Amino acid sequence: MLVLGIETSCDETACGIVDARDMTVLSNPLYSQLEEHAPHGGVVPEVAARAHLQKIGHIVEQALQEAKCTPGDLQMIAFTRGPGLMGPLLVGACFARGLALDLKIPAIGVNHLEGHIAAAHLSYPDLCPPYVALTVSGGHTELTLVQREFIFTCLGRTRDDAAGEAFDKCGKLLGLSYPAGALVSKLAKDGDPTRVRFPRALQSESTGDFSFSGLKTAVARHIQETGNRLPQEKANICASLQEAIVDILVQKSMRALELTKVNTLVLGGGVSANNALREGLAHACKLKGIGFAAPQAQYCTDNGAMIAAAAIMREKSGQRNTTLTVQPWLPLVAPS
Ligand code: KG4
Ligand code: ZN
Repeated sequence: MLVLGIETSCDETACGIVDARDMTVLSNPLYSQLEEHAPHGGVVPEVAARAHLQKIGHIVEQALQEAKCTPGDLQMIAFTRGPGLMGPLLVGACFARGLALDLKIPAIGVNHLEGHIAAAHLSYPDLCPPYVALTVSGGHTELTLVQREFIFTCLGRTRDDAAGEAFDKCGKLLGLSYPAGALVSKLAKDGDPTRVRFPRALQSESTGDFSFSGLKTAVARHIQETGNRLPQEKANICASLQEAIVDILVQKSMRALELTKVNTLVLGGGVSANNALREGLAHACKLKGIGFAAPQAQYCTDNGAMIAAAAIMREKSGQRNTTLTVQPWLPLVAPS
């Protein structure tokens, strides 16, 4: 069964075709709206929706061509129904539903966060619950217990900014373009992570929650007090910032694994492309004899294949999601 996954929740128009039999990704092209949003220093929802509308047809065609298949070979179309920006979500949902109707195949609405968790399954097809999932992106930072397929328990989430948002906002203070995560990580390679001790919020508390908003203030204050004109100073700030974020993510993940007595950690979301985070988590898991599964680089940031993968996983466990309406606010587990 070939499944087309369509992702348009934010600023990537992405489509992937996945073979459900063995989770092989046949194609996964995307258009990243960097040029459209760069002048604004962040994503403008209206601009994003228009760009999705312009690009989605081409990206679907590209996905079909690269997979060497025709629309008639598709058996299901999965699309992101939330969380995300209303306009962008609507473009993807309308396109997916229209195409599915035309092809007389089902359209399936997918939770974007399930997609990020499913991304690791593309690299590890035999991966199965129970596991703890750490989802770290530009909009989310969450620790989730996945007890059985699609039985989610929230173990902690950010109380303010997401980890990716902290990278992006601090990067902006350093004059880096949006999204700054990958650039911060690149500069960090030449920096000294012990040079500045940025705060690790909620570290000593028993909660699984995160807080990253203080980091931005700390970085802003540091820049104000010391300046950041020299490249080496910038590199030191990037390395110290990255270390603070990685420290807290590793510490909270290990705590969640201890509490739940689960012995696998699954990483997902755009920030999972960060090598320091991957290495930090892999090392901590190894010390405790915990299995660790992170997606390959191309499946970390938003992409269509992860949306197809999430729909396939639900299909295989007989838990198809029949809701087709878009939902900008759609947590995996509603806060109690
Ligand atoms: O999952 P994603 O593509 O979109 C959302 O669902 O938000 O994540 C994008 C986020 C951005 O904040 C970006 O700066 C961050 O992921 N990111 C990184 C790296 N690559 C992307 N953060 C740190 N290090 C990276 N290498
Ligand atoms: Zn995402």
